[in-house]
Amino acid sequence: MTDTVYVLNGPNLNLLGLREPEIYGSDTLDDIAAMLEDRARELGLAIDMRQTNHEGMLVDWLHEAQAEGARAVLLNPAAYTHTSIALLDAVRAIRTPVIEVHLSDPATREPFRHQSYVGMAAARTVKGLGARSYLVALDAVAQL
Ligand code: DQA
Repeated sequence: MTDTVYVLNGPNLNLLGLREPEIYGSDTLDDIAAMLEDRARELGLAIDMRQTNHEGMLVDWLHEAQAEGARAVLLNPAAYTHTSIALLDAVRAIRTPVIEVHLSDPATREPFRHQSYVGMAAARTVKGLGARSYLVALDAVAQL
């Protein structure tokens, strides 16, 4: 196993900072990557931060995380959280622990966000803390 933690981000998260800041905050994905890198260094971990708007790419990256011996995956599947059985199956298919991350708390939002397929298989879920959700999830990796 390596010290690398994959941080996988799904659709529309490339627009963080601009996108509905009243819900998601003003930090960009690059800001979050920088925060995670600092914290990872303190924990003796490394970060591989990625974003895609394509569901199948997230599936491929989950498989890659296992093949490359990643320590864990932090996964913000964005809207695919609520729709993707393919992502649920991918999380179940790998032994690498996956922590589900959300900036907002989907359970307090529209009813269609209350269901999380990924959450059925994730080792943990961290949500509702804004950018800090990612940091809390990274700290949780160190305790896995
Ligand atoms: C999100 C919550 C999802 O419901 C939404 O579709 C997103 C972002 C979050 O981080 O709060 O795109 O995953």
